[in-house]
Amino acid sequence: MRHEHTILFVDDEVNILKALERLMRTEDMNVLHASRASEALELLDKHPTQVVVTDQRMPEMSGVDLLSHVRERHPDIVRMMLTGYTEINVAVDAINRGEIYRLITKPWNDDELRATVRQAFDHADLKAEIKRLNQVTREQNFKLQDMNRNLEDKVRDRTKQLAEKHQQLRTAYVQTIRALAEAVDAKDAYTRGHSERVGVYASKIAREMGFAKDLLERVYIAGLLHDVGKIGIRDSVITKPDRLSLEEYEEIKRHSEIGAKILEPVDFLRDVVPCVRHHHEWYDGSDRGYPERLQGDRIPLPSRIILVADTVEAMTSDRPYRQALSLEVVVSEIHKYSGTQFDPRCAEAFLRLLEREGEAFIKKDQKFDIYAFIQD
Ligand SMILES: [Fe+2]
Repeated sequence: MRHEHTILFVDDEVNILKALERLMRTEDMNVLHASRASEALELLDKHPTQVVVTDQRMPEMSGVDLLSHVRERHPDIVRMMLTGYTEINVAVDAINRGEIYRLITKPWNDDELRATVRQAFDHADLKAEIKRLNQVTREQNFKLQDMNRNLEDKVRDRTKQLAEKHQQLRTAYVQTIRALAEAVDAKDAYTRGHSERVGVYASKIAREMGFAKDLLERVYIAGLLHDVGKIGIRDSVITKPDRLSLEEYEEIKRHSEIGAKILEPVDFLRDVVPCVRHHHEWYDGSDRGYPERLQGDRIPLPSRIILVADTVEAMTSDRPYRQALSLEVVVSEIHKYSGTQFDPRCAEAFLRLLEREGEAFIKKDQKFDIYAFIQD
C-alpha cells in the first residue's frame, strides 16, 4: 500500500470497477475493488480502509446490506453508495437509517465523484482525529485521577504525621515545663508537687470563669512555673522552718521577678512571663503585694487566679511549723481576703468549685492532662 488512504469500490460490473479505478489513478490513495460483497468484507478485514463505495444491486448481497455489515465490523469506515435513479428510494432510506454517509448517482460526473471521495476521506480523517483526541483525553483523565488519588493519600498521611508530631511536641513541652517546676519544688521537701497542683487548681478556676481554651493552657503553664524564680533564692532561706527575718522576706519576694527574668528569653513562654511576674500582687494594690503593687484589672488575670490557687495549695499542705489546714479554714480565709488580696471573681469561682467537688478538689496526686482537660 503506497498511500496513507485506501478506498474500496464494490460493483458486480467489471467495467464500472475499471472506470472507477481509472478515475482515481491520479488521486493520492490506494484503490481496492471487489465484485462481490463477501470479497469486499474479506478485503476490509485484511486492509485498513477508510472509505467504501458500493453498488446497490448485486447478486449475492445488496449494497445496503453490505454497508450494514461494514458498519457493524468496521464502524469507522465512511460508507457511500453508487446507485441508479431507479434505486434511489432504497438509498435514501439507508441514509436516513445512518448506514450511508453519501449517495452518488449513476451516471456520475468525474470531478464531482473525485471531490466527494476526497470529502469522504476528510470526514474519515476528522473522525479518526476526534477518536484519537478522545482517547488521549480519557487516558489523561485516568492519569489525573490517579495522581489526585495519590496526592490525597499523601496529604492525608502527611496531615496525620504532622498532627502526631504536633501532639508529641506539646506533650514534650509540658513534660519539660513540669520537670522544671519539679526541680523548683525539690528545693524544699514540703513543697513537693506544689507547682503541679497550683497549675491544676488554677486551670480549674480559669475554666470555671469561662476562659477560652488557649488561655487555659497558658494558665496551667503559668501555674507550673509561678515559683520558678525560687531557683535563684538561697536554699537556707527557702527551707527555713522559723519565721523569716525582714531581709530574708525581702529576698524571698524577689522570686517572682527572678522567675520572669528566667522565662523572658524563651519565645514560646512570652505570654507566661507577666503572669509569673505578678502572681503576688494584691487586688487592692496595697503594699503587701509585689513586685509592682499593681491594682485590680492591671494585674494579669492568670496571676490573680494563680494567687488563689497558690494560697489554697499552701494552706492545704503540711508545713514544718503546722499541719495542713481544714477546708473550713481555707474557705473563711479566701472569704476574708476576697477584695483585698484576691480578685472577688477568682475567689468566688474557687468557692463554687470547692462546693461542687469538696475534698476531691484538693486531693494530692491527681492525674491531670491539660490537653484532655481542655477538650472536656
Ligand atoms: Fe510564689
